[in-house]
Amino acid sequence: MHFVTTSDGSKTLYNPTVGEHYHSRHGAVQESRHVFLQSGLQHYLNLHPVTEINVLEVGFGTGLNFLLSADYCAQNNIRLNYTGIEAYPLTVDILRETGYNNYINADLWQNFISSYPHSFNHEVTSSESCKLEVAHCRLMDFTSEKQFHIIYFDAFAALHQPEMWTTEALHQVCRYLIPGGIFVTYAITGNLKRSMKTLGFSIEKAPGAPGKREMLRATKL
Ligand SMILES: C[S@@+](CC[C@H](N)C(=O)[O-])C[C@H]1O[C@@H](n2cnc3c(N)ncnc32)[C@H](O)[C@@H]1O
Repeated sequence: MHFVTTSDGSKTLYNPTVGEHYHSRHGAVQESRHVFLQSGLQHYLNLHPVTEINVLEVGFGTGLNFLLSADYCAQNNIRLNYTGIEAYPLTVDILRETGYNNYINADLWQNFISSYPHSFNHEVTSSESCKLEVAHCRLMDFTSEKQFHIIYFDAFAALHQPEMWTTEALHQVCRYLIPGGIFVTYAITGNLKRSMKTLGFSIEKAPGAPGKREMLRATKL
């Protein structure tokens, strides 16, 4: 794996086995902010101004979506309970190389780096405003006692990992979403829209991040 600098100056990882980048080459931080933070978390909070929120992410990877969300929540006095699912966890050395410390509060970065699990199956990092759990398992093996307000679905594209985008895989994660909860992802396809409707969601085409015309936001009915 190696790092690539994207159009907004932030870095992303390239995985040669899968043949894909972890984020958009048009801007990694820009994409994460647009798809997950603004179209997901901030959108939900505008509709439901809660002071504590549970977020579930499929494909935790470098943790960029978590870091931007945790930074936003800390600035806005919202307690964030974040669960990431990651089948192939990265090493702390790789995480350090991302440079994502440049986009968030220094204490948040230190807390993340010093407690990120590299030898455990499941680890929790906790501070006053934020709790992070990373489940080191495949999506289909994930179980939780919790229910979530938002799902960030950040799997590799269906072209490279079609098994992550089947109705069965989507059902596996969407069963943890509360009614009224929202599911966001950077992509939108006919198959994805059909699956989400089958699973009881209303769907919306939202403007995509730079480089993509549209993305999907779905609300659980
Ligand atoms: C597009 S990348 C996610 C990028 C990540 N959100 C970030 O900000 O760095 C997709 C992620 O899904 C993970 N993944 C692949 N297959 C998986 C599976 N079956 N279950 C859970 N995670 C998986 C990959 O290891 C990778 O970290």
